[in-house]
Amino acid sequence: MSDAKLLKQTYVSLINHRLNELVDFKPLPQKELFEAAKYSLLAPCKRLRPLFVLSILHGYGTPLQLGLDPACAIEMIHTYSLIHDDLPCMDNDDLRRGRPSLHKVYPEGLAVLAGDFLLTYAFEIITTSAKLSNSQKLDLITILSKRSGAKGMIGGQVVDLASEGQSIGWDTLHFMHLHKTAALFTACLEFGGILADVPKVDRAALLSCGRALGVAFQVIDDLLDEPSQKMGSDFAKEKATTVSMLGIQKSEEKAKLLLDEAFSSAKKLSKQCSLLNALIKELYSYIPSLSY
Ligand code: IPE
Ligand code: IPE
Ligand code: MG
Ligand code: MG
Ligand code: MG
Repeated sequence: MSDAKLLKQTYVSLINHRLNELVDFKPLPQKELFEAAKYSLLAPCKRLRPLFVLSILHGYGTPLQLGLDPACAIEMIHTYSLIHDDLPCMDNDDLRRGRPSLHKVYPEGLAVLAGDFLLTYAFEIITTSAKLSNSQKLDLITILSKRSGAKGMIGGQVVDLASEGQSIGWDTLHFMHLHKTAALFTACLEFGGILADVPKVDRAALLSCGRALGVAFQVIDDLLDEPSQKMGSDFAKEKATTVSMLGIQKSEEKAKLLLDEAFSSAKKLSKQCSLLNALIKELYSYIPSLSY
């Protein structure tokens, strides 16, 4: 196994272990809420976002323990966004992370509340982390609230919903991808930048890397939802996606170009982050025509 693969596996175990600890609540009247949150949060998945946070700390030689709680906080925001994204009033998807969606197993109201809990708990984890200084906490919260809020992920989700069944232009689609998906990826690299206290020029490179990476990720997600790949749920719901706008081949080219862009931004950093580079490389293999 390559060094990067081994490192990734070790980091995923650390992230999973810490996530388990963070939601290990003793029996309480709201026990069902915690069970529902755990069902989604601890389901098998890639943990890409926390890995991106830790990849920067690793590259700059910053102790990993400093970033573990902030990385888990981002995974909680991501999981909350998936729980809400699958609800009947949004994408109405019955499957998530290889299991029935949360609202298929628990009452819909509880699924909404489990999402709300993960969103708010993410901020609590950052504010109560003993390892962070007050100034780091403030910087992390400022980024997380911006990237996950109305000018970030939520803004993109609103445009996603409003675009169903509509014929939209490239600018609107790009806005949607940049906000609903890339904003949180950007936050991961920005978290790394704050925690590793990287020079100002590196912060700009992290920002452009996160944007390109996040949009590429959504283009690939759209490709993987294409009817020949899986259920084709976007098509059935008349979602506006890269594939519906550009077709498969052009979408694959787009994803590749965006990953090239992310890669060249990562190369501009003053420290070479081997895990970051390896994670970007891995994303190329998610592009259907390149996955052999
Ligand atoms: C799915 O994200 C949602 C999108 C932004 C496309 P992931 O594919 O990273 O989902 P998990 O975390 O591995 O389940
Ligand atoms: C999800 O986009 C973006 C979020 C912020 C949750 P999608 O709706 O395309 O993600 P999947 O395909 O359901 O995972
Ligand atoms: Mg959606
Ligand atoms: Mg969806
Ligand atoms: Mg999708």
